[in-house]
Amino acid sequence: MITSYFIKEINLFSFGILMILGPFCNAQTRASDQELAKDEQYHRPVYHFSPKKNWMNDPNGMFYYDGVYHLYFQHNPFDNVWGPMHWGHATSKDLLVWEEHEIAIYPDSLGTIFSGSAIVDHHNTSGFGDAQKPIVAIYTNHSHEGQDAGRNDYQTQSIAYSTDQGYQFTKYQHNPVIPNPGIIDFRDPKVTWYEYENKWIMSLAVGQLIYFYESKDLKKWTYLSSFGQDIGNHDGVWECPDLIQLPILGTEQSKWVLFVSINPGGPSGGSATQYFVGDFDGQNFTVNDRFAASMNEYHDFWVDYGKDNYAGVTYSNTETDDGKKIFHGWMSNWQYANVVPTTTWRSAMTLPRELSLGIVDGVYRLVSEPISTLSNYSKHYMEIKSDDPVIEIKKNNPPFFTTCEINFKVSAKSGFVATLSSEIGDTLAFGYDVENSSFYIDRSGTGIVDFSDDFGDKKTVCKRISASNMLNGRILLDKASIEVFLDDGLNVMTEIFFIEKPFTTLNFESKDKSPIEKQIQINDLHFN
Ligand code: FRU
Repeated sequence: MITSYFIKEINLFSFGILMILGPFCNAQTRASDQELAKDEQYHRPVYHFSPKKNWMNDPNGMFYYDGVYHLYFQHNPFDNVWGPMHWGHATSKDLLVWEEHEIAIYPDSLGTIFSGSAIVDHHNTSGFGDAQKPIVAIYTNHSHEGQDAGRNDYQTQSIAYSTDQGYQFTKYQHNPVIPNPGIIDFRDPKVTWYEYENKWIMSLAVGQLIYFYESKDLKKWTYLSSFGQDIGNHDGVWECPDLIQLPILGTEQSKWVLFVSINPGGPSGGSATQYFVGDFDGQNFTVNDRFAASMNEYHDFWVDYGKDNYAGVTYSNTETDDGKKIFHGWMSNWQYANVVPTTTWRSAMTLPRELSLGIVDGVYRLVSEPISTLSNYSKHYMEIKSDDPVIEIKKNNPPFFTTCEINFKVSAKSGFVATLSSEIGDTLAFGYDVENSSFYIDRSGTGIVDFSDDFGDKKTVCKRISASNMLNGRILLDKASIEVFLDDGLNVMTEIFFIEKPFTTLNFESKDKSPIEKQIQINDLHFN
């Protein structure tokens, strides 16, 4: 029997403590005005969603409808650590500028509201619609009473519907729609419309497997099959699955991709999201042979190789001409999420990414690109082409290197290191080691790092997937985060950090000071 992992025990323990101490020590009274101001200035992101106040983890129920993207999120409205989960709510027209709304779904007699999904029920299959098409949310109810009583069936799947496009939800009166068969980790339903058979498919994380269910009306669900035995990483509990079809770049074809978050077991420690490429026939998901062989050999099919991209899933009901899907993750890691040094709020989401598939050495690989709406806010700052061993770029005026994009192309023949530094000596380094053909991020010098032994302890490393002669990268900075999209999105690394002054210098240096071809281009990102 698979049991919940330690970190969750800590979370649930802290929830208990909070219920007792909550009224006496809330986050707002702990932080001084100076700390609050510093936090807003250096840590609050500009174009990544973060909650105005209190705690956030996984993105939930994301869908697009009538020109608006809806993002719900795991939210504790009482404090800035994990606690009784609600679904917070935010909307955006371009996935970059967000407006936060009232809480959308509250705990009820079946428990608090854990992760899940939402869909637009175009054909009113649920019968919940009136003049408006219903939005149906499918989520896990987590009964803390059941858990405290030592039961193993405290996670069940429930639904709620909205007829005002996702702002207010009514719970279905016959919840749960999937009771628990006696399995401790039984959660995070992600539902998608399977157009080939006019039915809904649910992926559910069950211990270290994914179960698939089908339904015609979102209320009555039938078990179909399971996936995950003896494949992929099993060093932690499986969470937050998502099964989608993605286009293969340069072809007219597509493949099914199953995303599975795992905690712990990530390539750099703690939580991360793995993926599997294969086929889905309406009943079973099977992994492509070549993919499966490579997986056993390398174990390296991760959405992101940095430490801070977890529990990500895709938006439903998006309309893109090229079939790409939009993926959004939580930009933190369960190793330290509860103790990162922000004040009245905790955590941000990653930049949304447009996903497709590429083929490298005959193996399907995920390709991630930053959301394309970013170009609407981008203003050219400077460009440099040179083979000088060291290039130093200073930015002495706002926005410094805080909200900007650094694009580079560099020969893969030699390694390099790019270091951002501030006037008080905080540094963030990113580079490529030619000896082991690996990229890395080193945040050990980024100001506040001592809040957790797992935060700045070592470089995060990932093996390069592409074998081309030139490396290219897009680095996106948003005050307290770095997201690096390498080799046109074949390798991605996302990490957070907590500086105390802005970075003002970028030093781009070839390994061994060799003269290698480099091209660097910087764009500022303006959002006001
Ligand atoms: C993933 C997760 C989910 C769960 C939620 C609880 O980070 O553990 O499995 O539904 O967080 O907040």
